[in-house]
Amino acid sequence: MKVYIGRTGLMNQIIEALLSHRSVRHFEDKHLSKEQIEAIVLSAQAASTSSFIQAYSIIGITDPEKKKKLAELAGNQSYVAENGHFFIFCADLHRHEIISEMEEKDIMISLESTEKFMVMLIDAALAAQNAAIAAESLGLGICYIGGIRNNLQEVCDLLKTPKRVIPLFGMAVGYPKKLNEIKPRLPLSHIYHENEYEQDAINFRKQLEDYNEVISQYYNERTSGKRKDTWTEQMAEMFSQPKRMYMNDFIKKHGLDLK
Ligand SMILES: Cc1cc2nc3c(=O)[nH]c(=O)nc-3n(C[C@H](O)[C@H](O)[C@H](O)COP(=O)(O)O)c2cc1C
Repeated sequence: MKVYIGRTGLMNQIIEALLSHRSVRHFEDKHLSKEQIEAIVLSAQAASTSSFIQAYSIIGITDPEKKKKLAELAGNQSYVAENGHFFIFCADLHRHEIISEMEEKDIMISLESTEKFMVMLIDAALAAQNAAIAAESLGLGICYIGGIRNNLQEVCDLLKTPKRVIPLFGMAVGYPKKLNEIKPRLPLSHIYHENEYEQDAINFRKQLEDYNEVISQYYNERTSGKRKDTWTEQMAEMFSQPKRMYMNDFIKKHGLDLK
């Protein structure tokens, strides 16, 4: 059976670290230092940013009560409260609204454009992934937390975010207590196309079926036989239960009535 843990003939320290990623959900009870937090945030900020727009903000949560509340809001995920530091990555066009006042220019159409919405999501995600890599390079573990979008209004209230700021996901960071096995990804040939999107339906399904075997075996080993579902089963089940369908109304209410 093919094993889709990334391996390449071109290994260096950075690629080795990238290919060793696995989410960490159990952390030592030890806070990150100010220097560690600063290195992680500066690394996030160093990411490329569409047209230099820097349309994101990062909120670090140090108040244990707030962390507890966020853990609850994120669907009782204990590691949202129990970690070395908790970051929240927000899409942010608030500062551009201030800029419009400073520069006395009407930018409303841009602020509410689907294009700028996409730009801020892309910017925030790029910054976050840089933060993740920086943290992992310091020997720390990370777990992204999309669960904060279960109750976004309450999260906004807790963080006192202004209009045009949307918390997108959290990131728990800390000293790993327990490491999972690396989770195999789809085969490279399924993800990477050359020159055009390959649409050989038979090969496409075959790749997914092969991957199903790999993932089923991965879960079987990780859970001592308790779980053996395949990736396509997992995806079909997940997509059959629409989630967070309030989001369209939510972003409209938050000053992003997209055009
Ligand atoms: C934006 C985003 C949100 C996520 N939200 C959660 C979450 O709320 N809880 C959780 O345990 N893992 C969360 N994850 C982690 C994914 O489940 C994980 O990355 C995926 O299963 C692959 O596993 P790996 O990171 O160990 O390779 C999230 C990942 C991303 C990128």
